[in-house]
Amino acid sequence: MTRSDIRIGLFGFGVVGQGLHTVLERTPGLRARIGRIGVKDRTKQRSLPAELFTFDRNALLDDASLNVIVELIDDADEAYYIVTEALRRGKAVVTANKKMLAEHLPELIELQRQTGTPLLYEAAACASLPVIRNLEEYYDTDLLEAVEGIINGSTNYILTAMHRDAISFAEALSKAQALGFAESNPALDVEGLDARNKLVLLLTHAFGLVTSPQEILAVGIDRLSNLASDYAREKGLALKLIAEARRLPDGNVAAAVLPTLVRPEHELARVQDEYNGLITQSGFTDRQFFLGRGAGAVPTASAVLSDLSALTYGYRYEYKKISQNTDSALTPEAAEVDVLVTFTDEYAPQETDFTRVHETFHSATRGHYLTGTIGLAQLAQAEWLQLPGICVVRLPTPLRAAANAQLADTQLAGAEAVFAE
Ligand code: HSE
Repeated sequence: MTRSDIRIGLFGFGVVGQGLHTVLERTPGLRARIGRIGVKDRTKQRSLPAELFTFDRNALLDDASLNVIVELIDDADEAYYIVTEALRRGKAVVTANKKMLAEHLPELIELQRQTGTPLLYEAAACASLPVIRNLEEYYDTDLLEAVEGIINGSTNYILTAMHRDAISFAEALSKAQALGFAESNPALDVEGLDARNKLVLLLTHAFGLVTSPQEILAVGIDRLSNLASDYAREKGLALKLIAEARRLPDGNVAAAVLPTLVRPEHELARVQDEYNGLITQSGFTDRQFFLGRGAGAVPTASAVLSDLSALTYGYRYEYKKISQNTDSALTPEAAEVDVLVTFTDEYAPQETDFTRVHETFHSATRGHYLTGTIGLAQLAQAEWLQLPGICVVRLPTPLRAAANAQLADTQLAGAEAVFAE
């Protein structure tokens, strides 16, 4: 493929699809143009000539003059069909569909291998921030220890607006929707599921771990309590929705998406509005921080544009970390986390689930909380996590190897000494 011959079959003409049209108009150097656009809604008025649009997906998939399919639709199942069919027909694909990718990554990696056709998706994680290609290429030989970040723009916009402008959650969410940041089903944003889908992609390109979203604990911002906000304010901490994947000393990796309290000096504390921020931590480079717009039409489309440009020089993901990763796994049972749990008279967390309870607080007017250390697997499995009025927020400490796991290792290695004491 050369710079002069990108002819795009575009699926979807929503926020990002229109953004792509805008950025292509302003990037004549790439000489990529949209040949045809596949859409679903027959009643919608559109800004481009009607003959450009079709309601028949095969009109794009079967059109030999279209050499790249850009998939920017909402429906993850339909997107999977389109992407796999396009790859089978030898058409390179660019997609921003993180849900579809996270749910089908193993099949999509295998299909790229079988067909030799590239699938790029920089826009699917952190929108305008160039994280996938950096994790894939730049950190190839580095000792990556952790990726940690704000990787959902809508929830960061909501948290910023609630805190700075003192508006309600519902009001902030409807603003995020009006600005085109939120998913069409905003539950994906506020329940932490969109961030979890993106974390699945980061885990693959950072650590070579191909996992499914269900394997990762995700707690959203839809259950935040006033008491948790008060706690944050009184301690001078910022509340952010943070996704983290961290290599444990045994080489395995722990990952979770959790509302998290961060100290004011932390890089992520200053990530505002729909911006995303991602910190990479590695043995050689220490901490590096990516900051940029994490949602919205043109910023997201700019990442699609970058993928289109990458196709012109034959770029494809080699999934190098997968071949480098010989034996590490995602192991929530080996990790623990410090949390604040706020609750009401009606339901309380099970204290015996905690490795250690640090502090408890009870108030007839403000509600109750405890802070403590809990295994990541115990937290993920805790029935009380889903009960009404219970809110879990991570305290400002990273995921870490569970003390119990270390103790278990010690016991295995030197059982007699431990039992003798
Ligand atoms: N709804 C997503 C977000 C869009 O808010 O981050 C960008 O992936």
